[in-house]
Amino acid sequence: MAERRFEGQVVQITGAASGFGALAADLFAEQGAKLVLSDLNSEGLQKVADDLIVQGTKVVTGQVDVSNEDQVAAHIAEGIEQFGQIDVAINNAGMGHAMKPITALTVEEFDESMAINARGVFIGMKHQLPGMIERGNGCILNVASAAGLVGAAMLSGYAASKHAVVGLTRAAADEVARKNVRVNALCPSFASTPLFNLMADQMGEKQGIDREEAYARISSRVPMRRVAKPEEVVQAMLWACDPANSFMTGQAISIDGGLTAV
Ligand SMILES: NC(=O)c1ccc[n+]([C@@H]2O[C@H](COP(=O)([O-])OP(=O)(O)OC[C@H]3O[C@@H](n4cnc5c(N)ncnc54)[C@H](O)[C@@H]3O)[C@@H](O)[C@H]2O)c1
Repeated sequence: MAERRFEGQVVQITGAASGFGALAADLFAEQGAKLVLSDLNSEGLQKVADDLIVQGTKVVTGQVDVSNEDQVAAHIAEGIEQFGQIDVAINNAGMGHAMKPITALTVEEFDESMAINARGVFIGMKHQLPGMIERGNGCILNVASAAGLVGAAMLSGYAASKHAVVGLTRAAADEVARKNVRVNALCPSFASTPLFNLMADQMGEKQGIDREEAYARISSRVPMRRVAKPEEVVQAMLWACDPANSFMTGQAISIDGGLTAV
């Protein structure tokens, strides 16, 4: 049997009840990781964790709002208490806002995007980094978006928050590179998760088309002429965090079928 890539490592994943986070929990577990999983949605998270525990994976779970520092700090402390350390942290939890122009976006909607998508990543790193710095080893992957690299009409709050994630990633990477801690961002474009389906349905409603046609219109903007399968994004997470990928830091890695290349 091939050697498992994360055997014995402790991997923390936020937003693990759904989409990329739930699939990442499965795939990191397959590769031998112990998991520290959190989400706002405790029911969905428990289902993900129960399936993994049955298969023999060691899991710590927490109902955590990533924008709440006390909750995040307590959850990370519990993971360290149970497993000794956190080797890899994937700050994946995030949300979109209703698609609308800047002129219609409310301050509350803008602030919520910044609080969950940007402040959430800042708070996560603030509490993940000390243990990694002390050990002189660690890896953080922040899930940004193609909307963290280029504009996204009707999603200005989301785009602002994801640009912030890329900025936070680069600043943190520079701060901790000499401590052998790597910090990167992943920038997916469109991938068929529940979050994306919500966006496709909103777009469909506005344009009077169904989800399938919305997928077709969105796909026509992508050089590869399709949206990603979640597996394609999560495989890139494994690669980005693989201990063998030891010299890559401070990068915003696009997984987007060529969207931001043209
Ligand atoms: N699917 C895409 O096309 C796409 C593209 C680019 C970036 N992303 C990013 O990927 C990440 C994962 O998204 P997904 O597509 O898997 O969506 P998803 O909705 O399937 O999963 C997101 C998870 O995050 C959780 N969450 C939301 N707010 C939270 C909070 N405040 N605290 C804790 N958990 C919270 C949700 O409960 C959910 O389980 C997000 O950061 C998203 O912005 C997704």
